Amino acid sequence: MKKLVDLSSLTKDEITSIIDLADALKKDPAKYSQAMLGKTLLMIFDKASLRTRVSFEVAMTQMGGHGIYYNVSTSPLGKKETMSDTAQTASRYVDIIMARMGSHEDFVELANTSSVPVINAMTNFAHPCQILADLQTIREKKGSFDGLKLAYFGDSNNNVTHSLLYGCAIMGINISVCCPTGDEYEPMPEVLEKAKSLAAASGSTVEVTHDAQAGVSGADVVYTDSWMSYHIADDEKAARIETFKPYQVNQDLMSHAKPDAIFMNCLPAMRGMEQTAEVVDGPQSVVFDEAENRLHACKALMLELLK
Ligand code: CP
Repeated sequence: MKKLVDLSSLTKDEITSIIDLADALKKDPAKYSQAMLGKTLLMIFDKASLRTRVSFEVAMTQMGGHGIYYNVSTSPLGKKETMSDTAQTASRYVDIIMARMGSHEDFVELANTSSVPVINAMTNFAHPCQILADLQTIREKKGSFDGLKLAYFGDSNNNVTHSLLYGCAIMGINISVCCPTGDEYEPMPEVLEKAKSLAAASGSTVEVTHDAQAGVSGADVVYTDSWMSYHIADDEKAARIETFKPYQVNQDLMSHAKPDAIFMNCLPAMRGMEQTAEVVDGPQSVVFDEAENRLHACKALMLELLK
């Protein structure tokens, strides 16, 4: 494993190794304080971030290495410099690269032309780092993945849903995606097809439903994400709120999940939109443990890639 483009390229054993290491890093961070000594991470961003940017930079600091934040808006990339030239040049300086890019195709070009390991820190198609931390969180809270059901609500034609589909299918978690009808709201058909084939191998199930009550029934994990991904124009927002309202995670919906169900959101969360305040700030919410695990999971991922 020398690059992480999306989770579908990882095996169950590889994901388990990353989560096991993330748990070890969380338990005893001091043991790994020199693990990145002399190593440099380049962090390329063309989109905003709190968790991803800060967790990766802190991860390098805590492991004795260094992270360089590289903002595309103040760089020659896309103006005087190509993706390939950027990747080849940066590969001569740094040990590992992570990039958050709107365009998945641009990210793939970066990954394919770099000679050092490259991590997808979120594109319009995939958010694998988030789902590694989510899987760590789910196992931490539930003890194992065996027989679990994750119900996802809301905008499902997005990076988080695609990566959740792959992550759950590989690890054997039954996933129910609950969203409005229409290509623009549902997972990409090719992602669903691949997830179903991964789920068949792990013995789990993948379903898409437009019935929120059916989706939440028996859920161990209730997950939602923003209705307003970065590319959504301001004049589309009012109509989207109406479209997604039946899929809002509120206390009534939570009451139809298992009594010990946890609530997850990769954050940022907008109270009153994809979930109510009483849910995200309530006792079933694990969103800040989930956010913390971004740090442990990204450390583990970088150590695995640099092995
Ligand atoms: N969940 C997540 O990726 O957060 P940021 O956009 O703040 O990095």
